[in-house]
Amino acid sequence: MKSAQAEFKSRRQKMLSAMGDGIAIIPTAAEVVRNGDSHYPFRFDSSFYYLSGFKEPEAVLVLLAGKAAKSILFCREKDPEREIWDGFRYGPAAACEEFCFDEAYSMDELDAKLLSLLANQPKLYFSLGHNAAWDARLTTCLKQLGTQARAGVHVPDAVCDPRKLIDELRLYKSPFEQGLMRRSANIAATAHNRAMQLVKPGMMEYQLEAAFLQKFYQQGAQAPAYTSIVAGGANACTLHYNANNAPLRDGDLLLIDAGCELDGYASDISRTFPVNGKFSGPQKDLYELVLAAQLAAIQQVAPGQHWDAPHQTALAVLAQGFIDLKLCQGSLQSVLDSGDYRRFYMHRTGHWLGLDVHDVGEYKDRDQQWRGLEAGMTLTVEPGCYIRPAANVPEHFWHTGIRIEDDVLVTANGCEVLTAKAIKSVADIEALMQTS
Ligand code: GLY
Ligand code: MN
Ligand code: MN
Repeated sequence: MKSAQAEFKSRRQKMLSAMGDGIAIIPTAAEVVRNGDSHYPFRFDSSFYYLSGFKEPEAVLVLLAGKAAKSILFCREKDPEREIWDGFRYGPAAACEEFCFDEAYSMDELDAKLLSLLANQPKLYFSLGHNAAWDARLTTCLKQLGTQARAGVHVPDAVCDPRKLIDELRLYKSPFEQGLMRRSANIAATAHNRAMQLVKPGMMEYQLEAAFLQKFYQQGAQAPAYTSIVAGGANACTLHYNANNAPLRDGDLLLIDAGCELDGYASDISRTFPVNGKFSGPQKDLYELVLAAQLAAIQQVAPGQHWDAPHQTALAVLAQGFIDLKLCQGSLQSVLDSGDYRRFYMHRTGHWLGLDVHDVGEYKDRDQQWRGLEAGMTLTVEPGCYIRPAANVPEHFWHTGIRIEDDVLVTANGCEVLTAKAIKSVADIEALMQTS
């Protein structure tokens, strides 16, 4: 068996054990119309893909747990006519063989087969409320099953959300996933370094966005992981800016938040650098502050630390810096307690990263305690500061937005910065920007 297929099979086995008994029905994402008869590029559902490795649209994974555990794929039938237009599709027989399912059938058979598969199952694992068509399909099926009571057929006693189980599995990245995330991170890091060499005053933000896409695809990534943020000057103070249509001005900073997707796995990097290749004094002061906060936060990423430790550390460094730079007044404790730092730093310091850029996984337990970090978890560390004009803010900082974001894997003894190739010290940035 190929190593990728063995990986997906072992994930299904873990999910089947976690279920214990019952049936799980996990559809892939729906295709979405962009306009007329054009669709957005199809992106599989992350959890469906996590358990199947199957990238085609119109597919469903059915898992039967218990003594006679089985994995069944429903997918599109082979169709020579459609394949002339849309390209290759596996069809159930080849998909079953290639992806190591126990059985595979055509989607056309799904409703009829579901009736017998659901009959007498103690539990149904299905995520309600995500897709109205699927909710309706399952409801119809359960209703129909209910009419067979006199024949001794039982409907499942409970409908549970499979995401609780899948999200927990997805949170711990296997060595196979870590390898993909390392490669995704490297591709994005190379693109960020290249952007530093390419930028010149007078260029448009979208020209750099195009350079990122070129670097992503050239190195084998299948897509950007999210819409790139290419924000010159004041645009960087808009956290989710993605118009990317303004000219880049001499003397401004440029904040780029861009990452790619490789075989489903996201990278997510932010870098901030001067359009003309040299930080001004105030820009350097703020940049060094955000970098110090980020380095201190990364130090906190280790097994045994809790999820919030990097954020609290970044906050303390930033708040002290805001006081030193006369952006905030008072003692460190008072600025932290009052939340005055939020005028300049209003987001958290990271999120889980994986198949989704904001990946699945709980951050707190049921008692509202922060989760502990454990080897195999991957997260971003991304402090920043965003300074808009205001009466009590020194004018030389106005319109400055800075974020520095890396992707970090928790290891047995500490952490590995997956995006370490993307340079970030002032000296390294200024030196690289002198080269072409
Ligand atoms: N690029 C999305 C984020 O940093 O969360
Ligand atoms: Mn992020
Ligand atoms: Mn980001």
